[in-house]
Amino acid sequence: MAILGYFFLFVFLSVILFMVHRSSRCRRLRFPPGTLGLPFLGETLQLISAYKTENPEPFIDERVNRYGALFTTHVFGEPTVFSADPETNRFILQNEGKLFECSYPGSISNLLGKHSLLLMKGSLHKRMHSLTMSFANSSIIKDHLLLDIDRLVRLNLDSWPDRVFLMEEAKKITFELTMKQLMSFDPGEWTESLRKEYVLVIEGFFTVPLPLFSTTYRRAIQARTKVAEALTLIVRQRRKESEAGERKNDMLAALLAAGDGFSDEEIVDFLVALLVAGYETTSTIMTLAVKFLTETPLALAQLKEEHEEIRARKNNEEALEWSDYKSMPFTQCVVNETLRVANIISGIFRRVTTDINIKGYTIPKGWRVFASFRAVHLDHNHFKDARTFNPWRWQNNSSGATSPGNVFTPFGGGPRLCPGYELARVELSVFLHHLVTRFSWVPAEEDKLVFFPTTRTQKRYPINVKRRDRVQTM
Ligand code: HEM
Repeated sequence: MAILGYFFLFVFLSVILFMVHRSSRCRRLRFPPGTLGLPFLGETLQLISAYKTENPEPFIDERVNRYGALFTTHVFGEPTVFSADPETNRFILQNEGKLFECSYPGSISNLLGKHSLLLMKGSLHKRMHSLTMSFANSSIIKDHLLLDIDRLVRLNLDSWPDRVFLMEEAKKITFELTMKQLMSFDPGEWTESLRKEYVLVIEGFFTVPLPLFSTTYRRAIQARTKVAEALTLIVRQRRKESEAGERKNDMLAALLAAGDGFSDEEIVDFLVALLVAGYETTSTIMTLAVKFLTETPLALAQLKEEHEEIRARKNNEEALEWSDYKSMPFTQCVVNETLRVANIISGIFRRVTTDINIKGYTIPKGWRVFASFRAVHLDHNHFKDARTFNPWRWQNNSSGATSPGNVFTPFGGGPRLCPGYELARVELSVFLHHLVTRFSWVPAEEDKLVFFPTTRTQKRYPINVKRRDRVQTM
């Protein structure tokens, strides 16, 4: 009995000591200020309702005004330090793998596959990241990918009826481009049926991840299995061909030849990750560039002029070359400005792996941080009249910003810098070229931009299109 009494006393004292230690640690450490909101829910509902409107900025503005550019909130089940400060964002991005690591909920990992580049860490991540970079860099795009991008964009635009949902068409184009680049597949019945399954997988990323309650999530998991099975057959076939000395010029060939002895499962997860990362992002940026241009007629007129000049130097059906891409200065301003205003990836979550002191505050080990690119891109201190679409701010190779340092990070940075950053820019530029030289259009309905669960227009941006008389060539 006495032993039991001592045991309970020991447990009781340990709990008291732990609590005293914790509260004195809290007093010693200065956490970023903020509020944690309601128990469990935190401020999640406020965040979601703000991001479901066309103007989500007040959520951040109010907290930045009250607490400063580094504040604590509680969203999606956890306390989170939110950074609207470019220096802190840079620190977070650069210290990936050292002081921070990426963390996704289990539901997302299931859909991505455990060997996905987005989930990899350490030296394997470094190796695979550079392999991906080497397959999507400018010289590969120039020598090899540009021709396919041009051809597939034209093929798609040629098949448009008088009214299209631009977001749907852009998704189709992006998927076909990615299939070609990854596995040398041209569009056909097989790619279209794979895309249908794949669309179900993507829907799973943005739903409640409870297999028992959410039909969408359950369907996504099933579709993921089907996509993986289909890709596994391709990988096996290509492995045989590669062993027999056949070599295609695509990402799959690079993976099979990499000499790392990747298993079929690893390669499939890797391919799925690339499909996921480039699909929603690039198709949304295509749609939003058109929306912003439609709402800014002067910019659209200047863009048209630039592309008509390029087309006038070529036959109507002649593909764009690298030199053409390099002679689109205003288009590059439009691309930058669309990326800045749209913020397709509004920021990135990371987990802190050790106590961190930054800007006079401590962020404790295990906490989550969110580096908000959106908050910086739309901050009047960094970009004049920041909430207006103004492509001219980037003219004459300007950095677009009014403050020093790198405040423009639509593709992230550091070890996880988006490997598709150049590819996305080229795809968007080629798409705009063929769109403005072939069509005029008007919105078919009023459509609103929303930012939750992803950046998108509510009605998939329906437009009525009219084929233009072709530009007279020289
Ligand atoms: C407008 C289009 C795009 C935007 C805005 C965008 C943005 C981003 C951002 C912000 C990240 C960093 C994520 C992080 O740090 O956790 C990222 C990562 C990534 N992006 Fe993109 N991306 C775009 C297009 C593409 C394309 C076309 C590809 C296809 C090659 C691609 C492949 C990837 C991959 C594989 C990663 C993960 C890198 C890693 O974790 O190491 N992205 N992207």
